Amino acid sequence: MSESNRYRLPKTVVPSRYDLVLEADLETFAFEGAVDVTLIIGEAVDEIVLNADELAFGPACWLETSAGDRIEVTGVWLDPETERAHLSLARTASPGDATLHVEFTGPVNDRLRGFYRSTYTDDIGEHTIATTQMQPTDARRAFPCWDEPEFKAVFGLTLVIPEGLRAFANGAKASSEPAGSGKRRVTFADTMPMSTYLIAFCVGRLDATEPVIMGGVPVRVVHVPGKGNLTSFALEVAEHSLRFFTDYYGIPYPEKKMDLAALPDFAAGAMENPGFITFREAALLVDPSTATQAEQLRIGETIAHEIAHMWFGDLVTMRWWNGTWLNEAFATFMALLAMDAWKPEWKVFESFALDRSEAFEVDALSSTRSIEYEVIAPADVEDMFDVLTYEKGGSTLWMLEQYLGPEPFRDGIRKYLADHLYGNTETADLWDALAEVTGEPVGRVMDAWIWQGGHPLISVVRQGDQVALSQSRFGHEGAGDGTRWPTPLRVRVGECTESLLVEPEGVVVEASADELVVANAGGSSFVRVHYEGELFGAVRDAAARLAPLERYVLLDDAWAAVLAGALGAVEFCELAARFGNENESPVWKTLLGGLGWCDRLLDGEPRDGFRSFVRDLAGPRLEAAGWEPREGESDLDRELRGTLVRAMGLLGRDAPTIDRAVVAERASRAGEDIDGPLAAAALPVAATAGGKEEWEAFVAMYRDGATPQQQRRYVQALASLPQPELMQRTLAKTLDGYVRGQDLPFLIGGCLTSRDHGSVAWGFVKENWDALSSKLTPHLLVYLVEGVRVFSTQVQRDDVLAFFETHPLERAGKMLVHALERQGVAVALREREAGKLAAAFAAGGRLRGLGS
Ligand code: BES
Ligand code: ZN
Repeated sequence: MSESNRYRLPKTVVPSRYDLVLEADLETFAFEGAVDVTLIIGEAVDEIVLNADELAFGPACWLETSAGDRIEVTGVWLDPETERAHLSLARTASPGDATLHVEFTGPVNDRLRGFYRSTYTDDIGEHTIATTQMQPTDARRAFPCWDEPEFKAVFGLTLVIPEGLRAFANGAKASSEPAGSGKRRVTFADTMPMSTYLIAFCVGRLDATEPVIMGGVPVRVVHVPGKGNLTSFALEVAEHSLRFFTDYYGIPYPEKKMDLAALPDFAAGAMENPGFITFREAALLVDPSTATQAEQLRIGETIAHEIAHMWFGDLVTMRWWNGTWLNEAFATFMALLAMDAWKPEWKVFESFALDRSEAFEVDALSSTRSIEYEVIAPADVEDMFDVLTYEKGGSTLWMLEQYLGPEPFRDGIRKYLADHLYGNTETADLWDALAEVTGEPVGRVMDAWIWQGGHPLISVVRQGDQVALSQSRFGHEGAGDGTRWPTPLRVRVGECTESLLVEPEGVVVEASADELVVANAGGSSFVRVHYEGELFGAVRDAAARLAPLERYVLLDDAWAAVLAGALGAVEFCELAARFGNENESPVWKTLLGGLGWCDRLLDGEPRDGFRSFVRDLAGPRLEAAGWEPREGESDLDRELRGTLVRAMGLLGRDAPTIDRAVVAERASRAGEDIDGPLAAAALPVAATAGGKEEWEAFVAMYRDGATPQQQRRYVQALASLPQPELMQRTLAKTLDGYVRGQDLPFLIGGCLTSRDHGSVAWGFVKENWDALSSKLTPHLLVYLVEGVRVFSTQVQRDDVLAFFETHPLERAGKMLVHALERQGVAVALREREAGKLAAAFAAGGRLRGLGS
């Protein structure tokens, strides 16, 4: 990293401790504060440079040396471009210890970043919470600080709050005393030495559950009053995760307490502040008796992910933001391990395959990026919070873990953490620790994976009594470039599985003609596989004997080949037709993903043919599953029922299914006890038969639903109502303050991806762009517009491209570039496949009646 980067702070003055006092006025939304920063001055300086933005300094600022000399700050120059403050000193400060005292004021903003406000309404009225989200670089909006991950320090925080409200922060409450005029002064225990992006605090009318001691650590859930009934699942996951990670890492939990806080307004899903982990409500609060397994798994993963960060990220931290990917990818992978250990029956790696498929799609674009890249300005880091970091990064670590073996991998992690406690690291430090423990060329393998975009297509070709595996770059636009990867791959020949490293020049394995060859056995490598000739037929015919993840991969690779133009959509449907007996929900979901695309490409009579094809395919399986949960069913059996109801209702347009869904949705809305996965699936299906009355009801359920999951489901279902004028009304709701900013991506994104009325939503987005972009953080905005990826006509494409030509995104622009290229893929798909599909599904076509 070049030291001349003007966004980076000089290291001549380094903080070791902050004593911070803050007071927010929850009526005027202004705060004032004072901070004393204990510094080590390394070289004589006559100015001090630190980060600050949207803050005003004063009245008093000075530097006090360890000898008791006070040097006034005579001028403050704020540079909004680099978000830095230059404090000029009245005279030169000599090297040594010193304390900087700064007073300041700023706004409690409504943009979900820095020190921001969140609101909720109950019987008493409206309540404001002042809370924080600092990552990546918004601590500088709450107090002047050395806002780079490398400047770790201890934080001692005091909050002055109105009597009657409660305050929470990283540290436990150490004291609370009256401060006059209806206020209290609350002081928190010191934090461990940590980075500024991990600071968190919060003031408001909030409740906390009684602390539960888990392995010596008191754990609570913080929530708005009245939601205590939704906290037990989170506490269970927290207890398991704390135990799991303490054991896995071989290091005790690094803080003294752990609060999990559910906030009504929150930009991301959750944030790993040590001691005070913050969440959006839907990512923490849940009623397991009405939630789907997928919803519970997502929440569990989120909690486990943040707890995994307490060590990996918080205790040992990336030196600079280029390390963000490792932090996030690792926590993503760890969450899978933790959840898999907690609920093996949930088969979490199968569900994860669905997330991974998203990363595959983006990574097949020519605009994909390498997982790691150099970060110069803070804006560069915003692009990192995407599927390539989380899902490709997490998958790559899973691939590595499978290659090295779970225990050696864990031992390497333990060594890495133990070597860098309270420190900062580079990515290579982890590879070094893993290499040292395992003796494997970890750095060489992983560097290829993290510094090159894209992923390999492994081609499997029979050569007599051998099978040759070669690699090329997989791409949507035909043959890729010359990029190659040392690729960990498990290959099964007959009954025997071998772990290989497929080098750029390929490998050959022994396999006689009667032996089944499965490349990517277990499905843990981040590769696509192409079997040539009879090898494919053999794997396909053996599908029932494959592991579920291998079946998933077979179908998912096939759909990827369709997008890449290497396989016809008709051939995909023929393959899908063989999977009517499938038992696993994720396998169905990937299959239905491909079929969903086919549905978009068809109209008129051929579409009717397609619908009957889907009914023939999924109907018997739904019949077998039945509509009522059965004694002894697993969570995944119930999940499968929901998936099949969606298939039959949304793609098959099966009239009896729609009727039953309408009944189930009404019953569930009326508070009757309908099984979670069934209620969740019935809702969008019922919506397709809904109208004005349902619109009113769904809008009300967004506010009044019994759980955040139910609220989320209803706001999403609004997009499935068939009337374009209702979609207009739905969209209008996004600007009147009724829908929280944090939920707009689900609502508007859902409308954009609606098969029939996406253009209505797109018109709305264009017209209201300024309002939307001033309301939303860059990430929420880009999530919202990513939906344009499904517009598959050239006219739509030209319109979208022209719009973003004149309305560029200020940040996270690469994610938009990916969405736009995906749109190009969709247009090409339509051009290539729509005609052939229509012919195949038309009366007398080759797919007519094939599903049965
Ligand atoms: N550190 C992130 C939160 C974050 C994301 C901060 C983007 C700043 C910008 C946190 O650990 C995280 O990864 N949260 C995820 C949830 C997780 C389960 C994938 C999120 O918010 O989506
Ligand atoms: Zn994370």
